[in-house]
Amino acid sequence: MHAPDLQTVKVDLADRSYSIVIRRSLFDNPLSYADLPRARRALIVTNTTVGPLYAERLQKALSSKYERVHILELPDGEKYKTWQHMNLIFDALLENGCDRQTVLFALGGGVVGDMTGFAAASFMRGVPFVQVPTTLLAQVDSSVGGKTAINHPLGKNMIGAFYQPIKVICDLNTLQTLPDLQLQAGLAEVIKYGAIADNDFLAWLETNLSALLARDPSALTYMVRRSCEIKAWVVAQDERESGVRAILNFGHTFAHAIEAGLGYGQWLHGQAVGCGMVMAAHLSCQLGLADAFFVNRLTLLIQKAGLPTKAPILSQADNAGRYLTLMRMDKKCTDGEINFVVIDKPGRAGIHCAPDTLVRRVISTSCTAPATLPQVDPP
Ligand code: NAD
Ligand code: GLY
Repeated sequence: MHAPDLQTVKVDLADRSYSIVIRRSLFDNPLSYADLPRARRALIVTNTTVGPLYAERLQKALSSKYERVHILELPDGEKYKTWQHMNLIFDALLENGCDRQTVLFALGGGVVGDMTGFAAASFMRGVPFVQVPTTLLAQVDSSVGGKTAINHPLGKNMIGAFYQPIKVICDLNTLQTLPDLQLQAGLAEVIKYGAIADNDFLAWLETNLSALLARDPSALTYMVRRSCEIKAWVVAQDERESGVRAILNFGHTFAHAIEAGLGYGQWLHGQAVGCGMVMAAHLSCQLGLADAFFVNRLTLLIQKAGLPTKAPILSQADNAGRYLTLMRMDKKCTDGEINFVVIDKPGRAGIHCAPDTLVRRVISTSCTAPATLPQVDPP
């Protein structure tokens, strides 16, 4: 489609390349799907919150392209990102006579996107899938780059595959129904892109934060587009995270410790990433890389985005020790060595190891917060 305000970002991965299209009023426009391969059937995977809002409109848009468009609503929540619930996707595909041409549509946030992507990677050894992300986090991060996964009782995102979608449809109108806390959580990943890859974008975020929090459409358009460009640029260089893609984990090492230590779901992932970036910025400063001005600048932006900047205490006995133990359990750890993403200078990141004494100092100065935050209403 050639609407004048349509933004397109290409993810350049040879024969696995695809487009991310960004605009308002996109997901329910049949033209958004005109370039997809022909098939008889499609399955929309969504959840019990997003489905009632958007699934029928997507089904209608797809019905001119596919003879049968089925809808599957999964229960809403990270706790359902399991084998058992992914099996419901296979049940729906098989019960409805779907075949190798069937196209899956992931309509929802990162949970639906990760599960649908993994189901698409495995059903009949791989069927095409389209991401229709409806959270900010999913639009700027999880729908792009082909990481798909489900959780295991012993670890988050432990079972999965790299499997790229054939298209990503970011409809900015869907962000209008997103709860504030979810919007703020998505902003953490956006701020991350500025910090690791584009100092001008970081400055733009500082200037435009109020417009973004007010969901101004043109501010949202630029933010989603620039974020997708940065993610696409990183993924194109290193699809399977053997090198530079690791910089996308800025703040995530501390964040994963917070999430695991408090119990998953206590803090939203984006809240933990916000706080984790402040901690990683402090570590960068302790290592003699970023300066104190940058740490303060980043902290202020994260705070203004409504995200926590003080870390929770995970253990009364040995808090820093608990953080270190949890960080060593992260799947990005190699031989017990924690690989921290640090800021070399604003807009440029690198990977460094750090002595435990330094990490302990960062944790001690960061941890003064109560462990509870405002929670999202349960769906
Ligand atoms: P989510 O999918 O749980 O969505 C958050 C909440 O918002 C849910 O209750 C959902 O139903 C609701 N929601 C979604 N869209 C809505 C809308 N438009 N209006 C109203 N409510 C809406 O959470 P998330 O933050 O989108 O994704 C988190 C997941 O993404 C985690 O499982 C994480 O592991 C994964 N993730 C994956 C990658 C990747 O590269 N694949 C990257 C980051 C995160
Ligand atoms: N969210 C980190 C990545 O996609 O690599």
